[in-house]
Amino acid sequence: MRLRTRSAAALAVGLLALTAGQPRAQDAERSVWDGVYTDEQADRGRAAYLQNCAVCHGAALAGTGEAKPLAGPEFLSSWNGLTLGDLFDRTRTTMPMVRPGSLGRETYADVLAYVLKFNGFPAGDTELAKRSEMLATIRLDAFRPDAGTAGDAAATAADPNGYPNPYATERDFLKLPPGRTMGSTSGVAVDSRGHIWVADRCGANSCAGSPLAPIMEFDADGRFVRAFGAGMFNFPHGFFVDAQDHIWLTDNRVEGGKGAQVFEFDRTGKLIRALGKAGVSAEGPDTFVEPNAVAVAKDGTIYVADGHTQGKGAHRIVKLDAQGRFLKQWGTRGAAPGQVEVPHGIALDGHGRVYVADRWNDRVEVFDTEGKLLEVWPQFGRPSGLFVDAKGALYVADSESREPEGYGHHPGWKRGVRIGDARTGKVTAFVPDDQADPDKTATSGAEGMWVDAQGRIYGAQVGQRAVVRYVRKPGG
Ligand code: HEC
Repeated sequence: MRLRTRSAAALAVGLLALTAGQPRAQDAERSVWDGVYTDEQADRGRAAYLQNCAVCHGAALAGTGEAKPLAGPEFLSSWNGLTLGDLFDRTRTTMPMVRPGSLGRETYADVLAYVLKFNGFPAGDTELAKRSEMLATIRLDAFRPDAGTAGDAAATAADPNGYPNPYATERDFLKLPPGRTMGSTSGVAVDSRGHIWVADRCGANSCAGSPLAPIMEFDADGRFVRAFGAGMFNFPHGFFVDAQDHIWLTDNRVEGGKGAQVFEFDRTGKLIRALGKAGVSAEGPDTFVEPNAVAVAKDGTIYVADGHTQGKGAHRIVKLDAQGRFLKQWGTRGAAPGQVEVPHGIALDGHGRVYVADRWNDRVEVFDTEGKLLEVWPQFGRPSGLFVDAKGALYVADSESREPEGYGHHPGWKRGVRIGDARTGKVTAFVPDDQADPDKTATSGAEGMWVDAQGRIYGAQVGQRAVVRYVRKPGG
């Protein structure tokens, strides 16, 4: 196909040149960050999109085959700096491919509103106009104008791996007991005394049938202190240390009457409680499907990210009170804003924001504590784990992005840890994973994340079976 060999940007710039006499992007008065559509309009647009566009561009706007993504960095960098008029005309005159122009201007405007919403641009009070001249007054800035200069934004959007890496990598700082090797691990955390806690999968990638104790404590110098939890879990997955240094672990695999539970221990290894029903995988107020991750607020409120198998079962965020009683759940399985599919990690910022690693949808979603959607951020990659530090920095681990079609397909994205501002979503640093041939593996690099009081980043790695630490380079 002829168009495939041409970049969308080049094509769109061509269109722009043709529209002589119309406002040009650099003269446009408003930007997509100014609230240029309404939520209602985006809802209508969603229905029209699912009916007319999703078959080619995918329910998550991620694109399929030759139909390009309509969300995320590739899309945003193509259109960055152009106007909504350009995007509108391009869509109206060429899409849907088999019958271009068949939908009516109003519906194209609605679909555009949905595309904007999906890309994380905020809604406002007035609907998006259906006239090209009006839309040509709205600039498509990929990044919030106050999040850097236009030049920076273009550079950033064009290369999601192009950020500086101010960190050096430390390995083997944990001294395991004699005879023991680290298994696959997605759980690392640091307590208030600086002790480092790890949950591995019993020297392998499963604890089923193993006599080993997967929860291990190390002192601040990496010396082994103790281990506990033998015979209790199948698949240690989500890990958390709360404000009173209690240790939380999720087991997201059901086998032999165990699993699908969330456990709380005190620091000596005494079991305080187990939420969910052992060996019962189900969506319910007192059961979990596949609990991936847990985070506990200072007041004891518990948030569980549930659902690990793409396309199957309930995927949701479950909120429980400090006593473990069900309060609410949100985010049914799916790709629309506010839905989740494989919510693999969860983090709290202590200021009323809940960050979810919405892995299958290649995005971070931010909610308030009642489940209201605040942000949809594709710029942190395909997230497996995340963490917000006391200074308001967001750390997101991408352990799965791959070039080839199939599992983890997320072309243009490298695995590693992206670091940015938890409020604005602006990414500023990238610590690449060092796996030699990531396209040949389903996972590499950090899945579980923690950052200690000194700003050192800990990554628990399933693929490499290791815990690594990233430390700021001098002057970095
Ligand atoms: C039959 C499959 C098909 C359907 C249905 C379809 N598209 Fe497309 N679309 C494509 C293909 C293939 C391309 C890439 C080729 C091209 O640029 O024309 C594309 C390209 C685009 C582009 C340009 C993307 C870029 O960054 O260059 C936009 C925008 C777009 N489609 C929007 C839509 C919208 C909105 C709908 C629904 C109203 C829709 N498409 C329906 C197949 C489809």
